[in-house]
Amino acid sequence: MSKSPQSIVVLSGAGISAESGIETFRSEDGLWANHPVDEVATPEGFARNPSLVYEFYNMRRRQLLSDKIRPNAAHTALAKFEHEFPGSFLLVTQNIDNLHERAGSQNLLHMHGELLKMRCLNSKMVFDIRKDIGFDTHCRCCRSPGNVRPHIVWFGEMPFHMQQINSALQSCDLFVAIGTSGNVYPASGFYQTAKIRKAHTVELNLEETGSAFDSHVYGPATEVVPAYFEALLAT
Ligand code: APR
Repeated sequence: MSKSPQSIVVLSGAGISAESGIETFRSEDGLWANHPVDEVATPEGFARNPSLVYEFYNMRRRQLLSDKIRPNAAHTALAKFEHEFPGSFLLVTQNIDNLHERAGSQNLLHMHGELLKMRCLNSKMVFDIRKDIGFDTHCRCCRSPGNVRPHIVWFGEMPFHMQQINSALQSCDLFVAIGTSGNVYPASGFYQTAKIRKAHTVELNLEETGSAFDSHVYGPATEVVPAYFEALLAT
């Protein structure tokens, strides 16, 4: 990268939360190794067996809200950078945990939704939640309970905030992906959109993903993310 960046877009994936104790999806003992995706992360799976889907996300929400799970040095480094960087900064996360918020990130978009939110199937209204949801859950818009679903994007559904994300990708001069395997579209194509606009693209990940970023730094997020963004701020 020749000159200091003016506009940065960062994309994070499950790898940034791994060292906080939240399992990733595609590691050997990851979430998808123990839960069939089509049963717990598709609209069809929810229609077929809502109880299984409610419990899958209730279990992950209970874990997230336990005092063992907290932001790590990578989350903190990103929030610190955002507040000290003079240019424009957008953090797009594929993660449904709230660790970026808890670390202090503000200009943040959850493109796959949030574990601590539920949505009414009738009104589409979204509500904050911090407890289990199920057939007995009341939303504030319906008279009867049981009309809610996790406010999470399942396979086959359109991610949130895509217009805003694409607009930011087209005007950034630096794109950084952190802790994502690049397996799921459209997030996996963001670096190519940025590249078309001549942005410099960087991948910070534990291991190679085979994606054609301009540069790569491999290692655990709690080491490579603070080092990368501290150096960037010094340029
Ligand atoms: N530090 C940095 N990277 C890590 C670490 C770590 N400590 N641990 C794991 N990783 C990397 C892995 O090498 C892998 O490339 O994080 C990546 C995690 O990949 P996935 O498990 O596929 O997670 P992600 O890329 O976020 O998945 C994208 O797929 O299933 C859907 O909706 C789900 O948002 C998710 C999307």
